[in-house]
Amino acid sequence: MPAPNPIGLSQAQVDQFYQNGVLVIPSELSKDTISKLLAESHKLLHEFSLENHPLTMFTTGEGTDDKPHVGDDYFLFSGDKIRFFFEEDAFEVGSDGSKKLVKPKEQAINKIGHYLHGLNSTFENVTLTARNTAIAHDLGLKDPRVLQSMLICKQPSIGGEVPPHQDATFLYTDPLSCVGFWYALENCTKSNGSLEFIPGSHKWAPVQKRLVRTNEITETDSVIKTEFEPVKGVEALTSEQEKKIADNDEYRLLECPAGSLVLIHHSVIHRSAHNFSPNSRYAYAFHLIDGTAVYDRKNWLQIPAEGGSDFTKLQVP
Ligand code: FE2
Repeated sequence: MPAPNPIGLSQAQVDQFYQNGVLVIPSELSKDTISKLLAESHKLLHEFSLENHPLTMFTTGEGTDDKPHVGDDYFLFSGDKIRFFFEEDAFEVGSDGSKKLVKPKEQAINKIGHYLHGLNSTFENVTLTARNTAIAHDLGLKDPRVLQSMLICKQPSIGGEVPPHQDATFLYTDPLSCVGFWYALENCTKSNGSLEFIPGSHKWAPVQKRLVRTNEITETDSVIKTEFEPVKGVEALTSEQEKKIADNDEYRLLECPAGSLVLIHHSVIHRSAHNFSPNSRYAYAFHLIDGTAVYDRKNWLQIPAEGGSDFTKLQVP
């Protein structure tokens, strides 16, 4: 039998991941690495320009006809770019629909995404590592690919709530394969909107829906529309299970110090509350999928944007 990989996860950690749907690894990042990532984050926020920015907000949840889940092409075509998405509460909206920022831009961005791992060496250096490759293999990914990466700011007082969801709804493969790598860059507490999850929910809550494009880009149509599509062949949740997902008492708060790595199973139910505190809650996250799984053209995220799955192989550069 081959010896276990010394730089990956222990069997106990792998077991815990599959038991709970989440695994927390404290002190994954050194203080020096955290400082570099925070400094780079502040630099990006400082340097981006509001000129010609479409003021796209990042909104979550089910979405409705008048308020879809994700904004517009600025968001949908961000898979191979570094783009900036605003907090919903960062604007005062006039009666004519005009938007005025109520915060300095540095404190108004919800997240930066989705190709930090490919275009920014500071983020690339913590993503494409031998350690992460070993973790991915230990979690069963044969050909780990980085699908997307993002800096999540969870800004003081306006950091938006993220409602209960499963990552595979947004990062769908057949079979499901996505794993979230979520690094706390600041201390995450109840007061600044730390992650919460329902332990073991990935075992009883099959992913019900996926976010898909409903049209292709053509010479005459460059506007992409999206909707949630039911996943075929999946048993519907019972009313008992739906009640569980809506019950605050089912959620475990995941408080963790800066530098922690949280691994997130594709089907575990998780969420985070609005940040009403005076402290931000920066986190860097990327998601892997298995390149051996089918990634089809219906997925909202395509690289290149016209349609494709040219995702970064997780290997040490
Ligand atoms: Fe998530």
